[in-house]
Amino acid sequence: MTEILHKTVVLVGMMGAGKTAIGTELARLLGVPFVDSDDEIVRAANMSIPEIFARDGEAFFRLKEAQVIARLLSGPPGILSVGGGAFLSAETRTRITGLGISVWLRADLELLWTRVRQKTSRPLLRTANPRQTLGELLAERDPIYALADLTVDARAEYSIAEMAGQVCAA
Ligand code: S3P
Repeated sequence: MTEILHKTVVLVGMMGAGKTAIGTELARLLGVPFVDSDDEIVRAANMSIPEIFARDGEAFFRLKEAQVIARLLSGPPGILSVGGGAFLSAETRTRITGLGISVWLRADLELLWTRVRQKTSRPLLRTANPRQTLGELLAERDPIYALADLTVDARAEYSIAEMAGQVCAA
């Protein structure tokens, strides 16, 4: 993996797949910077993601997300974790696969739901049946995430360090 770090490694996949945790560890292992696109958007807007969705709408968030990712990809190589919806945009996907190396952290519904059920920070899951919504998003998105350059299985029994190691070895 070190020899390919002339390009940014972009972690894609569903909310709860572990992109931030694995990305942080991967960056530490490789001695490169870690950036999370959601964090950058929140910092620039000085608002939380639910606040941005509530005030300006999802379309505005997606625009900011695309802009932040474009900016980060034009900077020095590192590890970039992007929000679960970012790779769905054909334009962003093309940019990611052109300028970076995309890694899909594939996880099943059980694991994702265990991780996201506690948190109220995902506006897309503020529905009457969030578990069902998560399942629908997963079914819709998995074929698109599958377009990533590499796939790493994120399983409950794997530690963060093991999964970061898998990305390094890929
Ligand atoms: C989203 C995932 C979130 C965040 C926003 C929308 C999505 O990021 O960008 O709530 O569309 O799946 P994480 O994947 O980091 O939770």
